[in-house]
Amino acid sequence: MVWSECVAVDYLARALELADRALGRVSPNPAVGAVVVKDGLIVGEGLTQPPGGAHAEVIALESAGRRADGADLYVTLEPCCHHGRTPPCTDAILRAGIRSVHVATLDPYPVVNGRGVDILRRAGLQVEVGTHGDEARQINVAFFHYVRTGRPYVTAKWAMTLDGKIAARSGDSRWVTGEEARRLVHRERDASDAIVVGVQTVLADNPSLTVRLGPSDDVRVPRPTPPLRVVLDSLARTPPTSKLLDGESAAPVLIAVTARAPAESIENLRARGADVVVLPDLAGRVNPRAVLDELGRRGVIRILLEGGGEVIAAFAQQQLIDRVLAFVAPKLVGGRSAPSPIGGDGSPMMADAIPLRDVQTRLVGSDILIEGYPAWNAIAEAKDD
Ligand SMILES: NC(=O)c1ccc[n+]([C@@H]2O[C@H](COP(=O)([O-])OP(=O)(O)OC[C@H]3O[C@@H](n4cnc5c(N)ncnc54)[C@H](OP(=O)(O)O)[C@@H]3O)[C@@H](O)[C@H]2O)c1
Ligand SMILES: [Zn+2]
Repeated sequence: MVWSECVAVDYLARALELADRALGRVSPNPAVGAVVVKDGLIVGEGLTQPPGGAHAEVIALESAGRRADGADLYVTLEPCCHHGRTPPCTDAILRAGIRSVHVATLDPYPVVNGRGVDILRRAGLQVEVGTHGDEARQINVAFFHYVRTGRPYVTAKWAMTLDGKIAARSGDSRWVTGEEARRLVHRERDASDAIVVGVQTVLADNPSLTVRLGPSDDVRVPRPTPPLRVVLDSLARTPPTSKLLDGESAAPVLIAVTARAPAESIENLRARGADVVVLPDLAGRVNPRAVLDELGRRGVIRILLEGGGEVIAAFAQQQLIDRVLAFVAPKLVGGRSAPSPIGGDGSPMMADAIPLRDVQTRLVGSDILIEGYPAWNAIAEAKDD
């Protein structure tokens, strides 16, 4: 008897692991994992390849070869049934002789949504949908958001002291949190397509905004390109000598400026390899909505907004933050002029504060991580009641 006959093996959980390995590598496509099982044994596995490459199901079926005939397929997202850049996965599944398909969640993409599953059922396959659905939607939360809204999904991340400062009054912020928290941020960068900051952060910290992971944290497949580094910089004040532009990293740099930026500054940045785009302004500064539209056009669907406080405030003002990752370090720095995570004018009354939904709190080393989702419509709903 083989081990998998006496223990219920969670093949969809394995497919979810595979899907996570593709995250940050396949946008604007969803990250999908697939497993082919025959007689209780995994005979094929696959995960989504970068755009233009094969989908997870096709890789898994190919690796199973003839063993796919009469086998069961476990896949984290509904198989596609349309000709995109690649042929429909439903065709490949039918051709391979798969007998049952276990789908964690339907594809929200309108041309697929439910049709992929219908095609397989009509062809006589047994199809089951929904096991591990929440986890599958969570992995592809950015894809689901992008399909629904047409805009990239924004996670605002900050690290603050217990007294709510993201830097000391001099602007120094190295480091607020400990190593474990910083490693988790690098994992989050690695899952993202772009990292966004304000020019003041570049001037204060001269960050490199690259992904730096040790071998034990580096669990995903190699990425074709590192995450895009984006600076909101209305007047093109980013120093051409900044680390972002020193050529040390292959990660591309996009500097979003307004029409007020001097042509010479723009040229100097371009000469250092930056892609400089002139975007519409809002009260004289780069309009965050225009930044998201521009990034969406470039296939970016998952953004890590790393601050500082003024830029996070500008995104919050337009209700463009979908998720918050706040690290709180048990230390005190004080200072009335030291910056806090969200600057701007803020809300006049505590009753106007935006609550977070589905809040999770955990310890990361000696720091606390609070994760949640701003309920932007909560205030409007409360006023309607
Ligand atoms: N602990 C942390 O997690 C963390 C993370 C990041 C930064 N920091 C710290 O935060 C400090 C910098 O934060 P900050 O709030 O002063 O600056 P910031 O948010 O990094 O940058 C603000 C600048 O971005 C530019 N900008 C472009 N478009 C904008 C828009 N729509 N809205 C607002 N600003 C826009 C503005 O300059 P122009 O008008 O010239 O465009 C503005 O002055 C530094 O001390 C840094 O060390 C800490
Ligand atoms: Zn497909």
